Amino acid sequence: MWYVPRDLVFSLAILLLLLVTPCSSSFLKTKNNIKSTAYLSPKFELEPGLVIDKYYYDIDFPKGHIAIKSFSVDIVDEADNPVPLHETYLHHWDVNRYYQSKHATQTRHDGQMMPENSDNIMVRNSGTCQGNKNGQYFGLGTETRGTIMDIPNPFGIEIGNPEEVPEGFEEIWMVNIRAIDMRGVEDKLGCTECRCDLYNVTVNEDRSAIRPNYKGGLLCCFEGTHCKLKEGFEGPKRSLYLKYTVNWVDWDDFIVPVKIYLIDVTDTLQLFDDSKGLDLDHDCRVEYQVESCSTDQKEGNSCVHVKRTSLPMQNGGYVIYGVAHQHSGGIGSTLYGHDGRVICSSIPIYGNGNEAGNEAGYVVGMSTCYPQPGSVKINDGETLTLESNYNNTKEHTGVMGHFYILVAEQLPYQHFRHSTRSSFFMDVTNLLVDN
Ligand SMILES: *[C@@H]1O[C@H](CO)[C@@H](O)[C@H](O)[C@H]1NC(C)=O
Ligand SMILES: *[C@@H]1O[C@H](CO)[C@@H](O)[C@H](O)[C@H]1NC(C)=O
Repeated sequence: MWYVPRDLVFSLAILLLLLVTPCSSSFLKTKNNIKSTAYLSPKFELEPGLVIDKYYYDIDFPKGHIAIKSFSVDIVDEADNPVPLHETYLHHWDVNRYYQSKHATQTRHDGQMMPENSDNIMVRNSGTCQGNKNGQYFGLGTETRGTIMDIPNPFGIEIGNPEEVPEGFEEIWMVNIRAIDMRGVEDKLGCTECRCDLYNVTVNEDRSAIRPNYKGGLLCCFEGTHCKLKEGFEGPKRSLYLKYTVNWVDWDDFIVPVKIYLIDVTDTLQLFDDSKGLDLDHDCRVEYQVESCSTDQKEGNSCVHVKRTSLPMQNGGYVIYGVAHQHSGGIGSTLYGHDGRVICSSIPIYGNGNEAGNEAGYVVGMSTCYPQPGSVKINDGETLTLESNYNNTKEHTGVMGHFYILVAEQLPYQHFRHSTRSSFFMDVTNLLVDN
């Protein structure tokens, strides 16, 4: 960290911040009124083969009524160096929004999951899974370093609106991190796919038996489990952090809010009757298995496993951003409209080197969609189809097929027309539309 003497007061303030918050280094900079801060999660400790699955509540986060413009993440060691995936496999991280009672007695920082109760209410994204499943605002896996999410102007994710926080509560943020220490493991792909035999696991975290045909996935690589190491391998413990950088602007009426949707290809939908009439019952499983293809397919080089689901979107809008989440073996994912038009297609980028961000064989990024705002519209009630494709020359366990989209229900022109009727705003919006 550098500082100029002229800005001594500011520097001292930063220094003080660093001193009083040992596990959170922050730096502030301003670019066109965009504020940016890098935070560190609490420190977690790994050793060869070990899995950590931490839940940190009330993490450092920008305060106030703001619009998030971007969110990016890295895994770093104590010297702030990025750690490559073949040393620490970042299975996933996800950042969730909560309202927490100001009188809550339990405000966990020890990394364990907080039981759900009336003291903490998760504020989930706009859908489309059941309950709190896949309710995160932000979340990725190994593709973290190479996947861009910068929300274009004048859009943003609105948070911290004091009028939305229930009386007696405050808005807090939580991060869940699952990582696997890959140093010295016998079968790297098998460990990353959480194959139960490599973890020597037959019961899951809550001690219930894992069904025999479940070969691998989230149930077999939980907190404290170890993936099989090469005979006699030993390595030191190491301390790591999740480093997350948030860019934001103060909220104002020119910002157009976007809603977050996370569609899961494992979601099966059922209609059921209740007192209020017909309702939809989502059932997202988060992960799935990809069986290996047949010998015939192998000979024809046509080993592609295709998984699809179709879901209605109650509220539509204009797609501002889109990105899929796939694991190693993924060869792309596409979200289609009811008429078969492509809403967004997102393809994994594989690394071919050794360094952090370009690890050979790992998904190190996902391509993204930034349609010209207004050009890609989802109609209210439209049924979308999500397709997730994997290369199944080999079988894969615990893979994912998620699609994350940001949707604006209004465009700037409509937004301003509805929110204010002064001719000044009409002129401003005409300028925006002309550009
Ligand atoms: C696997 O787990 C069983 C039962 O928990 C234990 O007895 C055995 O030693 C473990 N094997 C290895 C290789 O860790
Ligand atoms: C699938 O992977 C195999 C081996 O890694 C490769 O030879 C094949 O071309 C791939 N197929 C597709 C459709 O990507």
